[in-house]
Amino acid sequence: MEFTNYLERKRQDVDRFLESVMPKEATAPETLHKAMRYSLFAAGKRVRPILAIAAYEAIGGSSPAILPCAAALELIHTYSLVHDDLPAMDNDDYRRGKLTNHKVFGEAMAILTGDALLTMAFDLISRPADDKRLDPQAQIRVVQELSLGSGHAGMVAGQVADIEAEGKDIDLTTLEGVHRWKTGKLIRASVRIGGIVGGATDTQLEQLTGYAEEVGLAFQIADDVLNVVGSREELGKNANTDASRGKKTYPTFFGVEGARKLAEERVTSAIRHLQDFDEKAEPLRNLARYITTRKN
Ligand code: IPE
Ligand code: IPE
Ligand code: MG
Ligand code: MG
Repeated sequence: MEFTNYLERKRQDVDRFLESVMPKEATAPETLHKAMRYSLFAAGKRVRPILAIAAYEAIGGSSPAILPCAAALELIHTYSLVHDDLPAMDNDDYRRGKLTNHKVFGEAMAILTGDALLTMAFDLISRPADDKRLDPQAQIRVVQELSLGSGHAGMVAGQVADIEAEGKDIDLTTLEGVHRWKTGKLIRASVRIGGIVGGATDTQLEQLTGYAEEVGLAFQIADDVLNVVGSREELGKNANTDASRGKKTYPTFFGVEGARKLAEERVTSAIRHLQDFDEKAEPLRNLARYITTRKN
């Protein structure tokens, strides 16, 4: 199957599952549910859920047991975007091809929308597995991965470092750390969760982790590049915002072409971590390649 078909099919699986669990707009409190759905059902690529699904499949998993975890990752990611765009943070007006959440619903509601998306993620992954496809022990490990990947030791730590680096003459080591945490940690959790739900051995989980850490860094380098070369139409969010906020990024250090090359090196290294995996890991390999070739 062509990889673009794979991506599209998985996106639909994720969206169908999200639709089945998200409260409708008419469910009270209506404003909150409207605001949650506004950001969630905008044009997101669903990279993190698809990484979890592809890692799960690489281990041999094939049931829908992975979907609640995949959906939870997208809820956390969407919350992080809603908060990231707030005036107190990046102060952005566009996201996923639409006005940002706070532009439509106001700052207070955008903060609450993020809070509700974040907590709902943990609701989803801790619901009793009615079909017993995911044993409670694996469920606990998933909760742990998601907490560590998104919180003070993961994505939020990276967001803190990113904010503190603004307008400062940071060195490359600091920048790499920001990227590995603010974007890398949730991507790492996504892939590891796929592995855990699929029943990966310790060795397999280590290899998947190696893959994920490289993909996470490559993903944010590509985001830096797109911020320079993309347009609002292509990206669904404003371009050139990093430079205007005085942020040093990979293109600041290496130029656009140099940054692209570094991202590609990380992708090659990511794929190398999967050398013991068979053809079931092909979507995972293709996802790594997609990270640096995407246009948004
Ligand atoms: C954007 O993430 C924010 C980063 C962590 C780089 P995505 O590029 O995955 O955004 P969506 O989900 O497709 O909107
Ligand atoms: C976003 O990083 C990382 C998150 C954890 C949300 P950026 O601020 O660089 O991403 P964009 O460019 O706004 O999507
Ligand atoms: Mg930011
Ligand atoms: Mg931002």
